[in-house]
Amino acid sequence: MPEAFNEQLAEQIDRYIERLFVLPDDSLTQNLSDAAAAGLPAINISPNEGKLLYLIAKMSRAKRILEIGTLGGYSTTWLARALPADGKLITLELDQAHAAVARHNLDRAGVADRVEIIIGRGVDSLNALLDRNEPPFDLIFIDADKPSYVEYLNRALRLARTGTVILADNVIRNGRVMSEQPTDASSRGARAYNEAIAAHPRLESLVLPIIRENLDGLSISIVTGNE
Ligand code: SAH
Ligand code: DHB
Ligand code: MG
Repeated sequence: MPEAFNEQLAEQIDRYIERLFVLPDDSLTQNLSDAAAAGLPAINISPNEGKLLYLIAKMSRAKRILEIGTLGGYSTTWLARALPADGKLITLELDQAHAAVARHNLDRAGVADRVEIIIGRGVDSLNALLDRNEPPFDLIFIDADKPSYVEYLNRALRLARTGTVILADNVIRNGRVMSEQPTDASSRGARAYNEAIAAHPRLESLVLPIIRENLDGLSISIVTGNE
């Protein structure tokens, strides 16, 4: 008989998976301790979600990755490690201090040569990438301010090709997205995002529940057709 679902059990299962499948890694451990020491909030993806992003990037043979929301470069490191030697990752971050911590962490992880950090509002940076006719990305990971997720999606689609994978973190928010009128702007943004990817004619999508302190989710979409 399985145990009843509860938070403690969910956390134990998450730890069990991590012990089996995520090797201890000094640069990732130091990434998080330096981020904490610099006062960054501990809102990075979990080790298991990092491994998941890494696997998805490898499975899609991504050579060009775009990330929106760098923080201290924890998810950036996981994604950059999935790139081939001639691959490239561009990551967008609003906060100069976060970007500085990330730069240091990416250097230490040995992936700085593959990563470009662009500082500014995500929407502005995406517009700049569109203006400079940036070639399409193979994988796009959305993880910045949740109220802007639909705007990020619309621009991401213009930086994509058929087959591009688009991922977004925090789209379940412990179930708050199920309310028709979530009280917090982040859950409203995530709910609008889920509805947008579910209905979009160029996307096939699913949301995968993700265990962390609470239950959250990662959306997975593939771009199926041309504009
Ligand atoms: N992807 C990271 C976590 C990102 S946290 C990881 O898992 O390791 C969200 C980040 O988005 C924060 O660093 C925050 O400063 C940044 N952010 C918030 N609003 C933004 C905006 N308008 N444009 C770009 N980045 C933004
Ligand atoms: C927040 C942002 C995140 O990207 C996350 O994974 C968890 C929390 C936040 O802004 O609170
Ligand atoms: Mg997140």
